[in-house]
Amino acid sequence: RQKTNEEFQPTINLIKEDLHLINRDILQHLGCYEEELNELAKYHFDTKGKLIRPMIICTMARSFNQQEDNFLHENQRSIATLGEMIHTASLIHDDVVDSSDRRRGKPAAALQWGPRKAVLAGDYILGIASIVLARIGNSDVISLLSRVIQDLVRGEFMQLSTKESDAEQFQDYLNKTFCKTASLFANTCKAVVLLGNLSNININQLADYAYEFGKNFGMAFQLIDDLLDVTATDDDLGKPATADLKLGLSTAPVLFASQQFPELQTLILRRFSESGDIERALELIDQSDGKARTYHLAEQYANEACRILNNFPQSLNGSNRFLKFLIYLTQSTLKRRH
Ligand code: FPP
Ligand code: MG
Ligand code: MG
Repeated sequence: RQKTNEEFQPTINLIKEDLHLINRDILQHLGCYEEELNELAKYHFDTKGKLIRPMIICTMARSFNQQEDNFLHENQRSIATLGEMIHTASLIHDDVVDSSDRRRGKPAAALQWGPRKAVLAGDYILGIASIVLARIGNSDVISLLSRVIQDLVRGEFMQLSTKESDAEQFQDYLNKTFCKTASLFANTCKAVVLLGNLSNININQLADYAYEFGKNFGMAFQLIDDLLDVTATDDDLGKPATADLKLGLSTAPVLFASQQFPELQTLILRRFSESGDIERALELIDQSDGKARTYHLAEQYANEACRILNNFPQSLNGSNRFLKFLIYLTQSTLKRRH
């Protein structure tokens, strides 16, 4: 792994500079005179997040920009900035919805300030993100990012109920996963293509490929998240583990396990609400191939994401270091521990 890292060091350094500017921009945008709102809004932008969204967005943008050293346009950087803002706003709201008290290794904003102020801070961040979006001045891009917000809310809403039949449950899970996670990757990757001032190539086709890459990457990323929920510890994650089962949510590991152990259906339908349900579910997940199948499905999405990158015109001679880095990031997602 270290060796691979070395190969990518110059690329990583360049992307790190982007991330540094993005963080600076976010803090600047969020500044306001209401001191408490100021502090609360900036609280989770302390670089403890993985910044995987801006990393993917900047790398995608640089991979096809034809100017010297794969220049990143300011408007493309804005997409990464507001993508991270929308994501973080949704997490602050999510911790209220989930009554979760830890986030990114520290007390959640909702615990520190109470749910009412935390919800307002999320709204505030979303408002600022909308200003940044409007300033880009591209109505197609405004539609894409508005769709992301719509999808985030739909995904979060879908999680509040459970479908009756197991076939519906899995489809519902995949739809929800797209809405909650993959939509942001898909639509922001597409947006940076539209903002790329590209000539001599079919922009709409490239935008579709970028969307498909983001979608498949996002699905893989969330499947691993759902796997880690049943395999990792609180400290690994910087937030509570087995949170999904505790919230009554059925994700891939338990849905796959229920195909082998139908008795899980009763627990899934009552959303693990009776005492001993969570322990029993974990036991059956362990005895089943639910974890392996979840990993395998993540791998399939990751492979598809990498395959799509072959369609990028600049990949023809195989020398585009940003496309290679996207492949590396996709493969790393499968190996992540938090
Ligand atoms: C984290 O899921 C939650 C999301 C990715 C989406 C949350 C969306 C909303 C609260 C809707 C409001 C949206 C906006 C833009 C303000 P999780 O609970 O599975 O992950 P976790 O383990 O990190 O908490
Ligand atoms: Mg949550
Ligand atoms: Mg949630």
